[in-house]
Amino acid sequence: MATKKTVTVLDVTGFPVEYNLPENAIDPKGPTIDEIESFILECGQESTNGFGGVKAGGIYLQQSPDELAPCIAELLKYKDDIKNYLEVGSASGGSCFVFNHFFSFEKIVLIDNNGLGRQAIRNEVLRGIFRQELIGRSNDGAICDSVAKMGIMFDLIVLDSEHDYQNVKAESEIYLPFLRPGGFLFIHDTVFAPDGSGQAMGELIADGMELVAEYVSEKGPKLGIGLLRKAVA
Ligand SMILES: C[S@@+](CC[C@H](N)C(=O)[O-])C[C@H]1O[C@@H](n2cnc3c(N)ncnc32)[C@H](O)[C@@H]1O
Repeated sequence: MATKKTVTVLDVTGFPVEYNLPENAIDPKGPTIDEIESFILECGQESTNGFGGVKAGGIYLQQSPDELAPCIAELLKYKDDIKNYLEVGSASGGSCFVFNHFFSFEKIVLIDNNGLGRQAIRNEVLRGIFRQELIGRSNDGAICDSVAKMGIMFDLIVLDSEHDYQNVKAESEIYLPFLRPGGFLFIHDTVFAPDGSGQAMGELIADGMELVAEYVSEKGPKLGIGLLRKAVA
């Protein structure tokens, strides 16, 4: 049975009224998808050709704004339970910055081989945001051991490094054990890399993960975000 959460809103007379909402209800006090998208657009993309949006630069985000915004809106329904964040493939830290803006994570772990060159601005993008960065390949034994030794169960894991099948498959096998039951897995480029991220996502669903949604841009490049949820038991 879905757990309940309570929100307090003011009625027309200004009197506070408590409502019990189902677990996945939209919080009436939360941002709309349009508001989330406006924030992302303002942040700036790696390039508008590759990722859509209206402004290149800023945090150099490598996501399509109209894919990421509805994904965040969906996850915000579970905001109270999303505290620990692992991102594999962080680059400038753009996705981490945007997610953290909406979720104010307690723990952030970033893995990157610093191969793209955007690590040079990560410190600036993530200034003031406490995180642990593990620098190396995601399948390197030392990196995997470091994550295991942290003893953290993550509520949201983002896979956004290389999008070929072998890599996404390997990363999901390595890092899914650190996703708590009921936690969310975000896979990038499910449409752009149908034989890579797309195929790996399909196999995870066939193996029992729930497909929450696949977000595909209607305004810019169709990259594709797969949002999956780990079974509770
Ligand atoms: C697509 S970018 C990440 C974009 C970022 N998530 C965002 O939304 O702005 C991929 C990053 O993953 C890193 N990377 C690629 N393959 C990797 C691997 N096997 N292990 C760790 N990092 C990797 C690259 O150097 C790059 O910084």
